[in-house]
Amino acid sequence: MSEPFDLLIEGGTVIDGTRAPRFDADVGVRDGRIAAVGDLRGRAAQRRLAAHGRIVAPGFIDAHTHDDLALLARPDMEFKASQGVTTVVTGNCGISPAPLEADTPTPAPLSLAVGGPRQRFGSFAAYLQALRDAPAALNAAPLLGHTTLRARCVADLQRSATEAEIAAMRTHVQQALDAGAIGVSTGTYYPPAAAASTEEIIEVCRPLSGSGGVYVTHMRDEQDAVLQSLDETFRIGRELGVPVVVSHHKVTGQANWGRSTETLARIGQAMQCQCVALDCYPYTAGSTMLHNDPVRLLGRVLIAHSEPHPQMAGRDLDDIAREWGVAKLEAVRRLQPASAIYFMMDEADVQRILAFEHTMVGSDGIPQGERPHPRLWGTFPRVLGHYSRKLGLFPLETAVWKMTGLTARNFGLADRGRVAEGAAADLVVFDAERVIDTATYEEPKRAADGIETVLVNGVPVWARGQATGARPGQVLTRRG
Ligand code: ZN
Ligand code: CU
Repeated sequence: MSEPFDLLIEGGTVIDGTRAPRFDADVGVRDGRIAAVGDLRGRAAQRRLAAHGRIVAPGFIDAHTHDDLALLARPDMEFKASQGVTTVVTGNCGISPAPLEADTPTPAPLSLAVGGPRQRFGSFAAYLQALRDAPAALNAAPLLGHTTLRARCVADLQRSATEAEIAAMRTHVQQALDAGAIGVSTGTYYPPAAAASTEEIIEVCRPLSGSGGVYVTHMRDEQDAVLQSLDETFRIGRELGVPVVVSHHKVTGQANWGRSTETLARIGQAMQCQCVALDCYPYTAGSTMLHNDPVRLLGRVLIAHSEPHPQMAGRDLDDIAREWGVAKLEAVRRLQPASAIYFMMDEADVQRILAFEHTMVGSDGIPQGERPHPRLWGTFPRVLGHYSRKLGLFPLETAVWKMTGLTARNFGLADRGRVAEGAAADLVVFDAERVIDTATYEEPKRAADGIETVLVNGVPVWARGQATGARPGQVLTRRG
């Protein structure tokens, strides 16, 4: 007789994360790993979970998050666990909470994401140690942010870094990689990094070469110059000889609507000669810091969060300005620090990008304030329920692959993202007929329907519509 399983998931239909067609199988879990997949009737188990009529899939990997501090501050991570997410890739858009000193200035968007002086970590290793000392419910796969490095090392953020500053940043990159960072992210779209030249980025990221790490970027421009931004990204990848990930790919500004045909063609072309990956979220509105640049305030702007005026969350910037009797830019000034939701994309582009064969799913959720963008709670069930089941954009097997196997491969997360013997037991059991997002712009903090049980490293973290309180999350490092 073989050893009993810790948990036996019985009678479900497996979608294994490879895009292969679903099949009926039981899944046996032991010591945090998947011990067997197949007909396991009659096998001994400590606990059993009936999954008849349900899909058993690899836990979802959120390719793009800003959950760095939420993992510590809100370790149950309900907003992600409730979606079936088991791993979050952190440190995106150039923003990571380490390495920062207590007195490092943190202009927006850093201010929104790195927290107060007591939540700062002087080294990347210290941040990872904090995650290990107080584990969250979910796994974390952390990136190091270049904007954070600029805040720490560059005296004047209005210019490119000097040789000495580049050398200092490069040392931090090497140290973070040694500690286990899975790569480096940039956010040249944002003021503190916009002045960084392509050469600065290449020289700062040198240690990525040959490390197995990835280069991930919120590009300089997702509007008129989106093709040039793609070319810059590809050049950085080629010069470093590393895989690149284009974050939350989109084309914004009405004049550019429809141009995803061009960008996807350009990405497809580049993929012939180098490793390129991309992610996107399934919404036509974006969300980020509240800009004080008028061209970024065209169109409808909804306040998601304001530190001095929390009661303005959920309201239109235009209305606030009118109520206060001030110009829009003055209202922006008074609301800071703040984040906002911008309606700026075309649904046809969103669908074309999401359906593109190589696109991963990433939420880009910002876990802050009372009125976050609904992507924080809704992204994964929305792709499964709205885009796959209702609109038929792609089969469920493809939807699952875009949030599991594809993502694990692109970020080098060994043993994750598939239902197979020996893989980590990150699993989600869901109802394919019922799964759907319920979070809206008006009521964004609502858990999805149809996500029934979520296991991280073999331990249930979400069941019967709530967090279990278990915190089995691990730090997934490059050599982990
Ligand atoms: Zn971004
Ligand atoms: Cu982001």
